[in-house]
Amino acid sequence: MPAKSTVKPKPLVAGNWKMNGARASLNEITVMGLAYDADLRRNVDLLICPPSPLLYPAATTALGTGIAIGGQDSSEKISGAHTGDVSPSMVLDAGGSMVILGHSERRTDHNEKDTLIEHKACAAIATGLVVIICVGETRAEREAGRALAVVRRQLRGSIPRSANAQNLVIAYEPVWAIGTGLTPTAADVAEVHLAIRTDLKKLLGKQQGEMVRILYGGSVKPSNAKELLSVDNVNGALVGGASLKAADFMAIAETYR
Ligand code: 13P
Repeated sequence: MPAKSTVKPKPLVAGNWKMNGARASLNEITVMGLAYDADLRRNVDLLICPPSPLLYPAATTALGTGIAIGGQDSSEKISGAHTGDVSPSMVLDAGGSMVILGHSERRTDHNEKDTLIEHKACAAIATGLVVIICVGETRAEREAGRALAVVRRQLRGSIPRSANAQNLVIAYEPVWAIGTGLTPTAADVAEVHLAIRTDLKKLLGKQQGEMVRILYGGSVKPSNAKELLSVDNVNGALVGGASLKAADFMAIAETYR
């Protein structure tokens, strides 16, 4: 029997500011940078995804701190007459290196489907961005016993063929846990993350599938980070509300010291 692989992906703690924040909020990134010392940098990657008007100033503020900056969405198109949309190359040009795609709020507010998310991911990867593809079931779907089926369908439908462990991150965000203070049990998180890992190995091959980071998101805060982040196949967190304050975000990142 071949030896069990012990190499694990480097954890990533990512902050999604959603439609929050102003230029004054950039000071939180400065404070995060001061707390992100060499020891912590070795153990965990950090990312902040501000709203698009703040991308460039956030990237400027984060220079030299080791904190990466990313977008919250990017278009499947490259440029042209698409009022209000942001292309992946604009995210890159503003200093972003990653982009969140298929967040449940975009799936709901903008009726985004798996196929569109796959096209967006394809364009973003081609531009050189790392994509964080979000998946997760609603409360009704979990209560109907369909959580795994929904997550697996979203995964298969939204990961492009060009994806690999370097350009893809998955975030499991149960919709009912977002902004509610509710979280799944550690056993439920473990079950979904194992299913995602298994499917990633099928889709991308064993080696690549093992190295893709799978984040948990949904009401992560300093008080529950240790429990959630120590679950098997959880390689970091996608944090909403608690990423707006440097003290809370860094307390979550400290789990990896
Ligand atoms: P909260 O951490 O506020 O629950 O949000 C999670 C989320 O949606 C991150 O993308």
